[in-house]
Amino acid sequence: MGKHYSIVANWKMYFSFQQAIGWLQQHKIKLEDIIIEKEHTGIICPSFEVLSNAYSILKDTSIALGAQDCSSCSLGAHTGQVAAQSLAQLGCGYCIIGHSEQRANACQTNNNIAQKLEKLLENSIKPIICIGETAKEYQNKKSLSIVSEQLRFIRELLENKNFTNQKILIAYEPIWSIGTGNLPSSEHLILMLTAIKEHLSEVLSPESIVLLYGGSVSGAVMDMLKTIDLIDGFLIGKASTDFQELKKIVLSL
Ligand code: PGA
Repeated sequence: MGKHYSIVANWKMYFSFQQAIGWLQQHKIKLEDIIIEKEHTGIICPSFEVLSNAYSILKDTSIALGAQDCSSCSLGAHTGQVAAQSLAQLGCGYCIIGHSEQRANACQTNNNIAQKLEKLLENSIKPIICIGETAKEYQNKKSLSIVSEQLRFIRELLENKNFTNQKILIAYEPIWSIGTGNLPSSEHLILMLTAIKEHLSEVLSPESIVLLYGGSVSGAVMDMLKTIDLIDGFLIGKASTDFQELKKIVLSL
């Protein structure tokens, strides 16, 4: 048996409601077959409005459902927000937080993201926490310090709230690699993933840390990515909306 990977499809806002439902209805059986054949974990993260219907379509399969964000607040006067509690009730086992597009578009801070993490863990949803540096920070050799600072908030929350026995998926996504076709070198990936693992190992057991890589993942780059032992899975954007491409990625692992 090969290595077990977690494969997360981040559908962003690529599909309309009907397109997302159509995709799931058309491909769920074939997707489940290849996920089972390879013994990986498959997680689909559509946008909020799709979650309820997606749950009905996927509930009899081994494909898990995830959301793309959650509120950092408890139930109350928060227009436009979606509570972690509701996501759990809708059948989400996972939720992405801290994605760079949300950090930028919704001005989310490291502190907000730690609060979202708390809400997810309180509701037994596995977090998929995105971290990563910008192109400028990368060029200025600041990747390690930026990621360490992002991780500091996560670590403190886990420690202070006594969540140290939880499973955490952490996605290293260099922002300059998302949607650009630019992949980090394997040396850079090994450096970053080793540092991330070391940081989190101070508060979590090694088995509780699932390290994902995200940024321009496609069938064409899997030969390189799968040589990196530290990678336990992938957070896939654009390529995950194309079933043939997603299939290529899953079968390559
Ligand atoms: P991409 O996006 O695969 O389209 O680069 C990844 C992500 O933003 O999670």
